[in-house]
Amino acid sequence: MNAEFHQTGLSPDADWWRQAAVYQIYPRSFADSNADGLGDLPGITAKASYLQSLGIEAVWLSPFYPSALADGGYDVDDYRDVDPRLGTLEDFDGLLAALHHAGIRLIVDIVPNHSSNRHVWFREALAAPPGSAARERYIFRDGTGPDGSQPPSDWLSHFGGSAWTQVADGQWYLHLFSPEQPDFNWDNPEVREDFLGTLRFWSDRGVDGFRVDVAHGMAKDLSEPLRSRPTPDPRITPDDGTDPLFDRDDVHRIFAEWRKVLNEYDPPRAAVAEAWAPTAPRRALYARPTGLGQAFNFDLLEANWEPETFGTIIATNLAEAGLSGASSTWVLSSHDVVRHASRYGLPPGVDFQAWLLSGGSSPAEDRNVGLARARAATLLMLALPGSSYLYQGEELGLFEVADLPESVLQDPIWARTGQREKGRDGCRVPLPWTADAPFFGFSTTQPHLPQPAWFGPLSVASQDADPGSTLQFYRRALRLRRKLRSAETLSWVQGHRPDVLHFVRPGGWHSISNFGPEPVALPEGEVVITSGPLVKGTLPVDTAAWVIADS
Ligand code: BGC
Repeated sequence: MNAEFHQTGLSPDADWWRQAAVYQIYPRSFADSNADGLGDLPGITAKASYLQSLGIEAVWLSPFYPSALADGGYDVDDYRDVDPRLGTLEDFDGLLAALHHAGIRLIVDIVPNHSSNRHVWFREALAAPPGSAARERYIFRDGTGPDGSQPPSDWLSHFGGSAWTQVADGQWYLHLFSPEQPDFNWDNPEVREDFLGTLRFWSDRGVDGFRVDVAHGMAKDLSEPLRSRPTPDPRITPDDGTDPLFDRDDVHRIFAEWRKVLNEYDPPRAAVAEAWAPTAPRRALYARPTGLGQAFNFDLLEANWEPETFGTIIATNLAEAGLSGASSTWVLSSHDVVRHASRYGLPPGVDFQAWLLSGGSSPAEDRNVGLARARAATLLMLALPGSSYLYQGEELGLFEVADLPESVLQDPIWARTGQREKGRDGCRVPLPWTADAPFFGFSTTQPHLPQPAWFGPLSVASQDADPGSTLQFYRRALRLRRKLRSAETLSWVQGHRPDVLHFVRPGGWHSISNFGPEPVALPEGEVVITSGPLVKGTLPVDTAAWVIADS
């Protein structure tokens, strides 16, 4: 292994998160160590040197807690344990130690908006009568209509259908996601106290930070009568904090309490909010130093490959970071969306769920274009001030597995939408590690989601051997990024056509991205990396470059 990667231990920098490259691991699809077809924690530990060679600064681990997997692990039975299919707490400690030894921090996903319906508190709530303290930890209400047979309000589940489910004694409980994910009542001091205990539990074990699931949804206006909100979309929200369900002002009282606990540690534990807020200033509230400290911006992940859109998003989010004092976050792919190598190979504005329903055939995907743009977008993103969140498999240039048979689909979206949307399984297919081993080296038995034949040439082993591969490109870019990292500012370089984005970071680090058909001349200096080949020394369409110049 390259000597540059022989780090042991972590840098003492308390601000490590501000410009970190964070790699998201969806644990059940990363590497299987015990031949049950499900990735697990020892599987990740065994790949610590792979993660180190990638050059990332941190791992964000999606939920690994005991779960019936009604929503891919975002339905948590016990917040302070490991799913036995994924390992034990000792395995968790082993993973953390291996990552830290490799100089990699660990952020764990915490899911505070809802538990699973198998959580001990929810079982107690079901066994207890209406009005009991056990029911007060969740959100139970009587129904409406003459016999209470209608839901308490028109609130809708994000996964389709009503957000209320009726229980045997006639009451209803709220679940903004699937019925197996009952929402907690965050007005209840016992709930608040318990989560502080969970933050301490993992912080004491040494985790470096938390990714906070559905941070925008935890505080709700439960005063009677419940107000109408006939859309589940958290993006359609007034910008004054008064929506009954999302981005309420009250939520920040919770995070102020969390921040006090996170600051008890040295270094303070980092936290990043998954917060869908209507405006940049509203999102900035989550990212305040007195709040979680950082918030995801999903703007690039939702954007078409268009220079005006990218330019506006970058400018807006850098300004937003200025409002909160946090650094910006950038993300192109995650476990919730169609992979960006596929998105960019489809016509702009395409309905991704309709495309998935067609098995990926209509419209046709142009994988060459998609991958070229994905690599260019990644290089552009990695040059931006702030932290970049990468999703497992994007370093291999994986495309969405759009033709998963209906019989294997796991995402609750499939059933909850009456099979009108296939959901998110296509980006959660287990990684290919080698081309020639069964199941591409992920497992020795059939993985929980089937892998397509085209994974072979995209496997880690195949790309290891190819200097032009996407994997080697990511490694080079991430290694350079560490070396070039500079103050959290950029200056736009004007004078190009509108389909070229060119900015320079302090220290003469230029990022030039060509979205248009005409080739672009590069500035004077050393071309340290390009996302694809140059043509006669110029930057062709759908290609990005970094150039180190004197200014
Ligand atoms: C996670 C999803 C999950 C949902 C409910 C999200 O935002 O990223 O994967 O389904 O929260 O927990």
